[in-house]
Amino acid sequence: MHKTRILNNLKATSDFAKEIVELILKADKPLYLLLSGDLGAGKTTFTKQLLLNLGVKQNVTSPTFVIMNQYQVNDLVINHMDAYRLDKTSDVEMYFDEFDEAINIIEWPGNLNVDWTNFKTIKLCFKIIDEDTRQVEVN
Ligand SMILES: Nc1ncnc2c1ncn2[C@@H]1O[C@H](COP(=O)(O)OP(=O)(O)O)[C@@H](O)[C@H]1O
Ligand SMILES: [Mg+2]
Repeated sequence: MHKTRILNNLKATSDFAKEIVELILKADKPLYLLLSGDLGAGKTTFTKQLLLNLGVKQNVTSPTFVIMNQYQVNDLVINHMDAYRLDKTSDVEMYFDEFDEAINIIEWPGNLNVDWTNFKTIKLCFKIIDEDTRQVEVN
């Protein structure tokens, strides 16, 4: 996969999410998908497409206020966390208790006091290019 991708419209973001689903299904769990980028950069929009393509049937909403939502498809557990309202002093142990053997999608990971070095991660950094266009960098 190319390191930097231009997502010209919502369809491109949806197609990109499908590619990431392929990576996720092959990867060992727990896997951490770390989504960074400004407000409105497309982290939640991408996540909705990702969950749809993983087979989540429920309506996916932003966990900004509940901090974390959990989904299950067959044996696969998927956590979607939004750390926007947290900071490095927040106690996140109760969330991390849920993370074993799961796919963990985390918006605003930089707000958490976590050293990701020893975690299996896919890091996606979203940038706003213009109204319909986003750039995503994969690391
Ligand atoms: N190519 C694109 N990919 C993703 N979102 C886009 C794109 N073009 C426009 N948007 C819009 O940008 C907004 C992204 O919001 P959201 O996903 O909630 O961002 P974040 O979670 O990063 O704060 C949505 O209103 C979405 O419709
Ligand atoms: Mg969001």
